[in-house]
Amino acid sequence: MDQPSAPKGVNSADRWGATAAAYHKISEAVHPHAQLLIEQAEKRLSFTSPGVRVLDNGCGTGAVCLMLAASYPKVPIVASDLSPKMTEIVSRQGISNIETVVADGMDLSKIRQMCPEGFSHVLSNFMIQFAPDPFQPIQQMITVTRPGGVIGLGTWGSCTVENMFISAVQLVYPEWESPGLWSTRDFPEQAAEIKAWMESQGIIDVETLELPACPKFSSVEEFTTYFFESKNPAPEKLVDSIRAKYGDDGVEKVRSRLPTVFEHGEWDVARLAFNAFITVGRKP
Ligand SMILES: C[S@@+](CC[C@H](N)C(=O)[O-])C[C@H]1O[C@@H](n2cnc3c(N)ncnc32)[C@H](O)[C@@H]1O
Repeated sequence: MDQPSAPKGVNSADRWGATAAAYHKISEAVHPHAQLLIEQAEKRLSFTSPGVRVLDNGCGTGAVCLMLAASYPKVPIVASDLSPKMTEIVSRQGISNIETVVADGMDLSKIRQMCPEGFSHVLSNFMIQFAPDPFQPIQQMITVTRPGGVIGLGTWGSCTVENMFISAVQLVYPEWESPGLWSTRDFPEQAAEIKAWMESQGIIDVETLELPACPKFSSVEEFTTYFFESKNPAPEKLVDSIRAKYGDDGVEKVRSRLPTVFEHGEWDVARLAFNAFITVGRKP
């Protein structure tokens, strides 16, 4: 059956700006991934090596760059994001070795001009699947990585939150099909496939580790409010798809049924999880 496509601008700077203040809920859940990304990158090339310079591409509220700067206060870090509201949150921390830049990961020419010598480490935690073509930001990242430098990615896999939402919607609209949380369903969600794709781009020493991300919601109400009101573009894409097909009343109906799927014990708000992957390799 015909599915409404996600409205244009799902991934716009404005959309991400609108959720910046509420983003800490997700940022907390990806701290273990930021840490693993940093550890895996460090294993390939130490952050204390001469000439180190790091790019955190799609920095959000700073999960990676702030953690890195806390451990390595002398390493120059460029933290870039599509959304000025996100980079402002990082800038406000006033960390002397972090420079923030508003830049689209789909085209890193601005970053290349700023830093023509390239970066020793180019990291991107959970950004690429929001880009219109998730492969392009990786190809761009490769172009700004020095030979011998490290590329590291956090990417999402399948997620119980989407399945839980599908259950709630289908109580009201059995024919509804999810448009998916990310910009497309094209990016691989299996470790071996992610690794193989990175290798096909010429990246060596690639390893992909799976580490679920578990956002902590204290109650169904808190989760429901986040899902419907945070403006986070991932859940918003699902809500927008309901709105496009069934209107605001349809959204309200689904919202009021969401607690039912928890009450019936099918899902547990304390155990919601996204599969997620950390992939790190080197440019030869
Ligand atoms: C899920 S958040 C991840 C933020 C952060 N890296 C973290 O680990 O918490 C995705 C971030 O990617 C940014 N983003 C989305 N599309 C982008 C693009 N095309 N270029 C650069 N940043 C983008 C968003 O503004 C948002 O801050």
